[in-house]
Amino acid sequence: LRLACLQFGPIFGQIDANLAAIRDRLPAGEADLVVLPELCTTGYTFADRAELESLAEEIPGGPSTEALTALAAEKEVVLCAGLAERAGDRVFNSAVLVGPGGFVGSYRKIHLFDRENRIFDPGDRGFAVFEVGGVKIGIMICFDWFYPESMRALALSGAEVVAHPSNLVLSWCQRSMPVRCLENHVIAATANRSGEEERAGVHHRFTGASQITGFGGEILAHAPEDGDAWIVAPVEPARSRQRDLGDSPDILTHRRPEFYR
Ligand code: ACM
Repeated sequence: LRLACLQFGPIFGQIDANLAAIRDRLPAGEADLVVLPELCTTGYTFADRAELESLAEEIPGGPSTEALTALAAEKEVVLCAGLAERAGDRVFNSAVLVGPGGFVGSYRKIHLFDRENRIFDPGDRGFAVFEVGGVKIGIMICFDWFYPESMRALALSGAEVVAHPSNLVLSWCQRSMPVRCLENHVIAATANRSGEEERAGVHHRFTGASQITGFGGEILAHAPEDGDAWIVAPVEPARSRQRDLGDSPDILTHRRPEFYR
């Protein structure tokens, strides 16, 4: 599997321009699964919940999911992209998985970060794993990484590759992902955005440095902190299922959850 991250800096509120930027920057024929940043069509620093509601869309069916599905068909790739989701009177920080065959599924961010807690509803559906072309793809979004339970839950649900759309503003995630991947024996693609946003008295500088991490904890590809970047690495999802370490059996079935309370 050729696993890739597309790092760029969305323009706040310019959904059509951001979709066009994704289309322009996405190479054809170089990857099988491409992860895009969190909230990659809207930007991140919403002034308030009303502004978020005005930019959020239904999943599936909303124009951004439709456009990304068309793009996946055009470029013959599977895409995982962070979007603001409107569902009735609730709004989620979500990610969609779409492929040449259409919409695959979505995930609603469970661990909201900082002021996201004031404007989004927390994810209500648990961690999601989807099978596409024989590969089991799990999704978590940005700050979910801070909770080891996120990737552990995905691994226990069979994830081989974790798509990790992000808008990181702190510096720890990239250093932590090798351990997250090693302890769960999964491959991860952390697609972070770059650039800055200054809105409603709030300043965010996003830390870029998108990273593809192997199940042995190795950093397979990484991007610079600033600017646009395209990183890609060949990975072997089936090997992530071989989780024995010497005489220790499968590291996941070797757990002793009865002692973890
Ligand atoms: C984050 O969860 N966007 C830091």
